[in-house]
Amino acid sequence: MIELHDRIAGFIGRGALLTALVACTRSAEPTPVTPVLVGSLNAANPVSEGLPARIPAQFPAGWPYPSGGSGTFAEHAMVASNSRLASDAGVEILRQGGNAVDAAVAVGFALAVTLPEAGNIGGGGYMVIRLADGRSAAIDYREMAPAAASRDMYVDSAGHVTRASIVGRAASGVPGAVAGLTAVLARYGTMPLPKVMIPAIRMASEGIVVDSQLIRSVHGKESLIRQFAGADVFLPGGKQLQLGSRLVQPELAETLRLIAREGAAGFYQGRVAQQIVAEMERGCPPNVAPRQRAAHACGLITARDLEQYQPAWRTPVSSTYRHYSLMSMPPSSSGGVTLIETLNILEPFAALPQFGSANYFHLVASAFQRAFIDRNAKLADPAFVSVPVDQLTSKAYAQELQKTIPPDHATPTTTLLAAAKEGNETTPYVVVDSQGNAVATTTTLNSLYGSGVYVRGAGFFLNDEMDDFASQPGTPNQFGLVQGENNAIAPGKRMLSAMTPTIVLDPEGRVLLVLGARGGPRIITSVAQVIINVIDNRMSLSDAMSAPRIHHQSLPDTLRYDRGGLDSAAIRRLQEMGYRLAPQSLDEAKVSAILRVRGGFIGMDDPRSSGAAVGY
Ligand code: DON
Repeated sequence: MIELHDRIAGFIGRGALLTALVACTRSAEPTPVTPVLVGSLNAANPVSEGLPARIPAQFPAGWPYPSGGSGTFAEHAMVASNSRLASDAGVEILRQGGNAVDAAVAVGFALAVTLPEAGNIGGGGYMVIRLADGRSAAIDYREMAPAAASRDMYVDSAGHVTRASIVGRAASGVPGAVAGLTAVLARYGTMPLPKVMIPAIRMASEGIVVDSQLIRSVHGKESLIRQFAGADVFLPGGKQLQLGSRLVQPELAETLRLIAREGAAGFYQGRVAQQIVAEMERGCPPNVAPRQRAAHACGLITARDLEQYQPAWRTPVSSTYRHYSLMSMPPSSSGGVTLIETLNILEPFAALPQFGSANYFHLVASAFQRAFIDRNAKLADPAFVSVPVDQLTSKAYAQELQKTIPPDHATPTTTLLAAAKEGNETTPYVVVDSQGNAVATTTTLNSLYGSGVYVRGAGFFLNDEMDDFASQPGTPNQFGLVQGENNAIAPGKRMLSAMTPTIVLDPEGRVLLVLGARGGPRIITSVAQVIINVIDNRMSLSDAMSAPRIHHQSLPDTLRYDRGGLDSAAIRRLQEMGYRLAPQSLDEAKVSAILRVRGGFIGMDDPRSSGAAVGY
């Protein structure tokens, strides 16, 4: 009985337990607890195996996301993504007996249909996998610079960086998504490709219902979309899509069918490859020299680039944080290393100050600031640059950095840079299955709708990932990141990413938390803060995701905070400490996460997002 009480208390919290017991004693028959009831109450107050009891979070007055909210509870398996329809697609596959990898691949292709701003087959991403038998893996299907790319291709004759790395045909790296998803399915999936692609193909050919989020999203990027062939699909007749109408994408459906039939070859060879190459040439004057192509708005991707694209299998970068184990994405993403470096800097503090206090944000921001200095200078594609992963993720190195944090004032980035001398659009999704496998993925086109270029006849947007390189080392990119020589453009090189798909294990080695985020460099700081909220601040998953976040990327030397997320006392005190503060819009970064709790999982898409967690 004690065990039963404990379990019920875990599910429904003390107040609800009392109410339930009163209800039980009043009725002659015990009231059966329906799965829906259990789910929603459990979500409000989850008890996670492997974590101490949760503490209700306090957010500043006026903060739009209340504490004490709930995620989605499911007993067996869960998918969380920025699109409810894509999460549904994953659950469809899980219910048919697919494992987390099968479901993740289904979600990846579904997002290309349901979330055109970010989901893609014209971009790339990363996936971290933890299998029930203890094995782990990571796959890097990041875009690569085409063979014709060159270091200064986005610098004009006056020495200024142009916008050709962001908008138009020259902005795209060679897409990696299809190669990555098909490779991961072949190695760790259990279902054939055509089967996991059924939901995506169905939604592309039969259509999806246009909701207000899609209309808002297209409206926000109307001037970009209008410049290219995607306007025919997303602004039909020059007008906004109609709320409640069906968006059918027959060309995309045909491309997906081809991939389902032929695998990666259906994308990297044959008709689709020819359509991508034709898109690169559209409007391009004849005989433009490779170095001049960006200046003439000509694309660089050739049939050979496509044919040669290969994803890279990597060993996840791993570490511990306060007895929990972490595995995350190694370079070519900076995500895992920067996350681990940040947490290692914070770990020597036996306990962090009270969440919401100036001292708390000072320490967290100082850790980000130091980790980003290393990120921006040292991390890059390991095929081109020797990356000191072991040093940057070592506890000893972090302890040295931790000692440079003064207790009560900010350190200017310039001071730290001098001392260090020696030495837009993305979508995360996470899946857990009933067998204990877990997958964290993040995929991106970079900016919303990527470069804007839509492959005519093939039905998808191409990325603008070339802007993640340092077009001119030392000059900020569209995220304000000031990156160094290591991340300069070179043919065949992968541009440095911030994507941080991450899996946290409890001290017994069981999957505890699976998460990822969108938001450029804020991906790293958002993932880190959700982990800190769960482990240090003992928040429920819902509170951990809803809590106000800060961001510091070393340069610009500004502490950004979610607008409305810091109370006036904290703002005043941080200013006294010497921080330059600036608010950031709440939709800059969005996390998707799943937490294992007693009896199942809690899944949640960021309250800042319109996606959803779905389970069964
Ligand atoms: O790989 C990166 O770091 C960026 N391309 C991610 C861009 C992003 O998250 C934009 N989404 N909000």
